[in-house]
Amino acid sequence: MRKTIIAGNWKMNHTGKDMRETITALAQSLTASVKTEIVVAPVFPYLAEAVTLAKGTPIHIAAQNMHWLDNGAYTGEVAPAMLVDIGVTHVIIGHSERREYNNETDETVRLKVKSALDHGLTPILCCGETLEQRDAGIMQSWVEGQIEKALAGLTAEEMLHVVIAYEPIWAIGTGRTATAAQAEEVCAIIRHKIAALYDAATADAVSILYGGSVKGKNVAELTASPDIDGGLVGGASLKAPDFLEIIQNAV
Ligand code: G3P
Repeated sequence: MRKTIIAGNWKMNHTGKDMRETITALAQSLTASVKTEIVVAPVFPYLAEAVTLAKGTPIHIAAQNMHWLDNGAYTGEVAPAMLVDIGVTHVIIGHSERREYNNETDETVRLKVKSALDHGLTPILCCGETLEQRDAGIMQSWVEGQIEKALAGLTAEEMLHVVIAYEPIWAIGTGRTATAAQAEEVCAIIRHKIAALYDAATADAVSILYGGSVKGKNVAELTASPDIDGGLVGGASLKAPDFLEIIQNAV
């Protein structure tokens, strides 16, 4: 049985006060019996404090990025062992905003996914097409290519620890959610690709999330789809009541 995961990607939002208030409010409302895996990704400066606040609650703390190397002369970068050292458990890798603004490539994504696994971090690997690619009819080959390149060299055992997030770029922060049918179509394509690269049992065990204008009102329909196992949420994860509504309505 695959896990349902609701992950909040706070992007470059929330200073310390907002971070504290939001995690505290989430923690107060979430009981230990919650079945959904809950992940929140604040910015780097607050990760350690977020881990402390989330201790003993069902909330896991994720980083939004990392370097793939352990240390070295890479000004401004953060190494995976440093994240592990402070209690971070997940890391978002290859978000389309990093691919667009920070020179993230399929190769750096591949290196980061492997490095995250080597350090015991759960990578949340992002993929997704632009509207132009969708309109040009190359959505499937584009997403399959991203997946194949990111996973190159991973064993089936390693693959079981990867979470994939399908985020169509045209649906991010636009209020234009993919329909459940559109999101399901691509998540199924991704699962078939994993089955082709590995085997059906491995593909069946991997959690695939949808991201792009997920809200309390559309999450039930999205997560009821057979190949969608949760959501990677941006804007609607910033306020505890909105995020809690998503967690409560996810199926
Ligand atoms: O990583 C989450 C994301 O890109 C979706 O953002 O604001 O459309 O939910 P949003």
